[in-house]
Amino acid sequence: MVFGVILAGGIGSRMGNVEKPKQYLNVGGKPIILHTLEKFYVNSKFEKLIVLCPSQWINHTKNLVKKNFNDDSKIVVIEGGSTRNETIMNSIRYIEKEYGLDDDTIIVTHDSVRPFLTYRIIEDNIRYAQEYGACDTVIPASDTIVESVGHEVISNIPDRSVMYQGQTPQSFKAKKLKELYEGLTEEEKEILTDACKIFVIKGQDVHLVEGEVFNIKITYPYDLRVAETLIKGEDK
Ligand code: CTP
Repeated sequence: MVFGVILAGGIGSRMGNVEKPKQYLNVGGKPIILHTLEKFYVNSKFEKLIVLCPSQWINHTKNLVKKNFNDDSKIVVIEGGSTRNETIMNSIRYIEKEYGLDDDTIIVTHDSVRPFLTYRIIEDNIRYAQEYGACDTVIPASDTIVESVGHEVISNIPDRSVMYQGQTPQSFKAKKLKELYEGLTEEEKEILTDACKIFVIKGQDVHLVEGEVFNIKITYPYDLRVAETLIKGEDK
């Protein structure tokens, strides 16, 4: 079974002083999270779409889903976790409780604030996760990446031709991800902000899915302005 996991458990602190988490802000006259959900909703391979959000936003999110989707039984809204990885783990716990976990249980995890992903990216994620067990959506790094461990002088400049920028979706065999996560120490859990890194530090391959430059994450107020422009292009 394949599950879409929409990560909306954050509060969007870098967006600044807004009255709601950024995933509920409007772009193109509609909350960002709905644009994202629509991309998943039309793919019939998903058994269920699991939306995870802060507890105080669950009712609001359920109402949005009810009003905007014909078949809202395909979408479930539950509480996220204290970290992004904990939010992912909540989705796996839900799947385990409702459906059981086996080696073919796939989760396609995606930032609710990346509404511009494509149907092709979702399809590739499902295929790669089924074939390889884990995949990450990336684009080749366009800028040179400069590393500065002490934040004052350069400690390294890696070869740009082997550098990529990580996007989402990130997709996994859920049982494997759960096992690897449970094997981490509390310190490792603190450092591992990226779910793919859990596979990487345990020596497991994570395959690359080709992303898109426009598959941006809405993080800062500037990104909202970019998103408004991109939405106009999508409608054409
Ligand atoms: N996220 C989540 N659960 C958390 C933290 C983040 O599901 N505990 C989700 C966010 O809702 C977002 C995605 O992960 O869709 C990407 O994270 P980020 O852009 O960092 O979102 P926020 O944590 O909300 O933003 P900020 O870091 O500015 O507070």
